[in-house]
Amino acid sequence: MACHGQPDMKPDDYRPLLHFTPPQLWTNDPNGLVHYDNEYHLFYQHNPYGNTWGHMSWGHAVSKDLLHWEHLPLALAEYTDAQTGDSTMIFSGTVVVDAKNSSGLCSGADCLVAIYTSHVHRDGEGLRQHQSLAYSNDKGRTWMRYDQNPVLDIQRKDFRDPKVFWHAPTSKWVMALVIPDLYKVQLYQSSNLMNWTLMSDFGPAGDTLRIWECPDLFELPVRDKPGQTKWVLSLSGSHPAGPDFVGMQYFVGDFDGTQFTTSQTEPRYLDFGKDYYAGIVYNHLEDRTVMLAWANNWAYANQIPTGQWRGAMALPRELQLAETQNGWHLLQQPIRELQAQRKKQLNSPPPKINGPLEIEIELAPGGAVDLWATENQKTQLRYANGSLTLDRSQSGNVDFHPLFSSEEKIVVGQRPSMRLRLILDQSILEVFSDDGQITLCEQIFPKTSGAIRLNEKARWLAGWELSE
Ligand code: FRU
Repeated sequence: MACHGQPDMKPDDYRPLLHFTPPQLWTNDPNGLVHYDNEYHLFYQHNPYGNTWGHMSWGHAVSKDLLHWEHLPLALAEYTDAQTGDSTMIFSGTVVVDAKNSSGLCSGADCLVAIYTSHVHRDGEGLRQHQSLAYSNDKGRTWMRYDQNPVLDIQRKDFRDPKVFWHAPTSKWVMALVIPDLYKVQLYQSSNLMNWTLMSDFGPAGDTLRIWECPDLFELPVRDKPGQTKWVLSLSGSHPAGPDFVGMQYFVGDFDGTQFTTSQTEPRYLDFGKDYYAGIVYNHLEDRTVMLAWANNWAYANQIPTGQWRGAMALPRELQLAETQNGWHLLQQPIRELQAQRKKQLNSPPPKINGPLEIEIELAPGGAVDLWATENQKTQLRYANGSLTLDRSQSGNVDFHPLFSSEEKIVVGQRPSMRLRLILDQSILEVFSDDGQITLCEQIFPKTSGAIRLNEKARWLAGWELSE
């Protein structure tokens, strides 16, 4: 029991129990998401020497259900060239299943090939970014860098984050990557993952308030239109709240094997919370599209008050598209595997939050729910005057960075009510509207655990304690 005003949450209590975190030290972007031989792989930007950004390398974990992860040794490490003294960090990238050994790098019928940005630097200053390969013939357990790297170099300082996938209709590999400062996604093609030729450029378009990073290009089914699909180009850049923060945007359109086209003129944002960045989707998944993103924001990522680990992934999300009166919309829900974690039903709001929770509530106009609520702390979600607002300005530990204390206000229009699904996991809150059109992922660092309190315009629909 905490004394009045005394924090009872310690930095290690902020470690989420269902969201992925590295066993120790720093992480940012998820990398190399691939499903292979019954395992989901998660590689991640990792500093093996510290809990702030640096020495970027690929950490590695595998899972059967995208929720429980087995940590594996570092997959790819930063290295130094003995002759020049220049070091190369392993920046973000993809892993593909080279099912027909198109690269010639597989010792058996198939193997895993990583395509990543090799970031060359000297004395901390970036000199060049180009794309390189590494391969694994033992289900991702050990990796060799290809000895003819790099495989794609356009002589630019900033040129990164390759996302590669197999495009079956044209039987070739397609790579999407960015020239960040030109707000351009470039699409390349290859038959063997080694020789790449430029097919087309996309951008500038949408929101260009901040440089573009981490693009992805994928096909999605349209809800209620059996057999119909559209293509989505997603990328990371500016946040809807403006250029102090980073977030994700997407375009819906068509991809003919060469070029992505869209008639969309307004930017669309993927998540309205402050902590959702660098998301990409799994490769080699047949039956659904699953996105995983870093639950953090570059504005304050290096300062969040966690223990000797720093950074977490948002819950994996299943994606679909809907055609609405306002055009095309991405629909997002937490992966279906989460349902198996429901261990105890809660018929009313718990007086104290202990461990991960999933709750469903309904907010009529004027409705509000306070989370981690004590006498002098609360995180508030409210629906009023046609807006949904998430306010973490009094959420507890907010002073570690001037930009952390914040309020997100999303114009959703006048509705009879809003039904919301919330997942609370130690220091991460994710909110999903029941139609999947509005999502918010935010970090919250309460000083003490607290209650869940609904006002008279809010209704409890359901709740579950989730097992770890
Ligand atoms: C995005 C990013 C990528 C880059 C990586 C470096 O968060 O800046 O563009 O590859 O992080 O860690």
